[in-house]
Amino acid sequence: MNLSQFRKHYEPLIQKEMTALIDSLAVPQSLKEAMNYSLQAGGKRIRPILLLAVLEEFGIQHPDALKVAAAIEMIHTYSLIHDDLPSMDDDDLRRGMPTNHVVYGEALAILAGDALLTYSFGIVARLEHVSSDDKIRLIDLMSVSSGAEGMVGGQVLDIEGEEKKLTLEELEQVHRLKTGALLTYSILAGAILAQAAAEEIMALSRFGEHLGLAFQIQDDILDVTGTSEELGKTAGKDETSEKSTYPSLLTLPKAKEKLEFHATEALSALNSLNGEPALLRELTELIVQRKN
Ligand code: IPE
Ligand code: IPE
Ligand code: MG
Ligand code: MG
Ligand code: MG
Repeated sequence: MNLSQFRKHYEPLIQKEMTALIDSLAVPQSLKEAMNYSLQAGGKRIRPILLLAVLEEFGIQHPDALKVAAAIEMIHTYSLIHDDLPSMDDDDLRRGMPTNHVVYGEALAILAGDALLTYSFGIVARLEHVSSDDKIRLIDLMSVSSGAEGMVGGQVLDIEGEEKKLTLEELEQVHRLKTGALLTYSILAGAILAQAAAEEIMALSRFGEHLGLAFQIQDDILDVTGTSEELGKTAGKDETSEKSTYPSLLTLPKAKEKLEFHATEALSALNSLNGEPALLRELTELIVQRKN
């Protein structure tokens, strides 16, 4: 299966898993609706696909893979709901639809985000085909990657970086944390489910680190070069909010060079794996080539 077939096969399954998980919750209807709204709005599903692609490379069909993939997509979706709030990036378009707070109001949007985040930990805690030790590893790494030392910390640095010029090192750290951490987690969660060896985990961490940077550099570039229609979110927003981004700090051509650099490094990290991880290579290409 090539990447495009792989995505076509798994995207509906990821969606189905998320819907079933939300349906099984005994919670206020309004909350359920607000949670479902952003999960069903679409999105590329890159993080669940990364996890599933890692398992595929290891030749493993894991009965709990879709649950972990769904949990990660819930954390990512929560991060987008909160990222769009008026007190953060103040966006009204996401995944081609009005943002969660525009539809449900700020209070419910914040709470829907909180609910998605906290639920994801419960989903992993209740997996039936993973040992308790591995569940603790998955939950611990999930907490670090999405929390203060990961995505949340990165979002803080991102907001603090508005209206001031960060150094390239500082900006790289923002990107590593706000985007790279959860992306890398998706890869490592796949590796943990696959019982990967320590050296394989190391190679995949290095892959994730560069892939995460490439992903956010491309996000910054697309904010300048894309249209709102293509992106499903408001283009040109970083400049309006005086964000520190790769294009603003380095110029567009130099940002593209950095993107290429990290993509090449990501690919070279894959060389030390056994076998030929074709899907992960294709995913790297996709991240460089993507238009949304
Ligand atoms: C957007 O993520 C936010 C970043 C971390 C750059 P994606 O580009 O993966 O958004 P969706 O999931 O496809 O909507
Ligand atoms: C968001 O970065 C990273 C998150 C953790 C959500 P951006 O603020 O650049 O993401 P977009 O461009 O709004 O999707
Ligand atoms: Mg932001
Ligand atoms: Mg934003
Ligand atoms: Mg952006």
